[in-house]
Amino acid sequence: MNPTSSGELHIRYELDLLPAAPLLLLFRYHYSGTIDNMYEMSSQTEKDIRNITNLVEIENKSILELGCGTGRITFALAERVQEVVAIDIDTKAIEKARQRNVNENVTFRVENIENFDLGRKFEIILSIGVGYMYLRDLPNAIKNISRHLEEDGVFLLICSSPDAEYQKVVDLLVEENVRSLSFYKQFEKILSSHFTFEKTILKERLTFSQFEDIVSCFQRELKEEYQKELKKPQIQQLRDYFQGRNKLSVEDDSQAYICRNNVT
Ligand SMILES: C[S@@+](CC[C@H](N)C(=O)[O-])C[C@H]1O[C@@H](n2cnc3c(N)ncnc32)[C@H](O)[C@@H]1O
Repeated sequence: MNPTSSGELHIRYELDLLPAAPLLLLFRYHYSGTIDNMYEMSSQTEKDIRNITNLVEIENKSILELGCGTGRITFALAERVQEVVAIDIDTKAIEKARQRNVNENVTFRVENIENFDLGRKFEIILSIGVGYMYLRDLPNAIKNISRHLEEDGVFLLICSSPDAEYQKVVDLLVEENVRSLSFYKQFEKILSSHFTFEKTILKERLTFSQFEDIVSCFQRELKEEYQKELKKPQIQQLRDYFQGRNKLSVEDDSQAYICRNNVT
């Protein structure tokens, strides 16, 4: 049965996923090393590169990547583009990215999207999975991005869709003021003060092969302060949820904004 064909069934499905939400929240918002593992397990990088290249022409272009983390997208793009300048606010992530880097046309910098100034413009600006809802000064961030884009350049922003099952479950747990649906309405308003944009939905599912894979990710990568999360009752609930299942598959659609500078 198609879950979206019946409202009632759809709601039950979301609630059924509820025990998984605290763990998925940790995946998404903490430590990029953990995020790396999630991406590896779900072949996310291949999907992201396919999405990017379907939406924008990147061959031989100058690229600015915002919130690059440890560089998985950066490295996958390096051979095809003229250069990538990749920025992230997280010093540790940038250190790790620099250690991994073997490309002469790639530069990593510790910068904050809200106030960075590279003193130059780029043909393409990419932003994949950056949590704009957590920025302190969103209007300034968008203005900053706009002034780093060439007049005929494209800013491609891919983020979670607030309509996805995954995000709806997360929304049940986060504070009212960051609920994604209301945030993205406000976000689009701010975006439109500097950009003209088209929006498209990218269908995705996150699939983990088994519960133990997810737990081992945490044991390998989590800082000590998060280890205690593994003992919380929700984790037992999550384990119960997995009993008798050999897969976790969550609809995790993304939305892509293809933005061009407003003509002034
Ligand atoms: C979910 S991770 C995605 C990383 C990378 N884009 C990828 O897809 O692998 C979000 C990244 O955005 C970065 N970030 C969050 N706020 C930022 C800010 N204000 N300035 C720069 N980077 C930021 C985080 O440090 C983190 O590395």
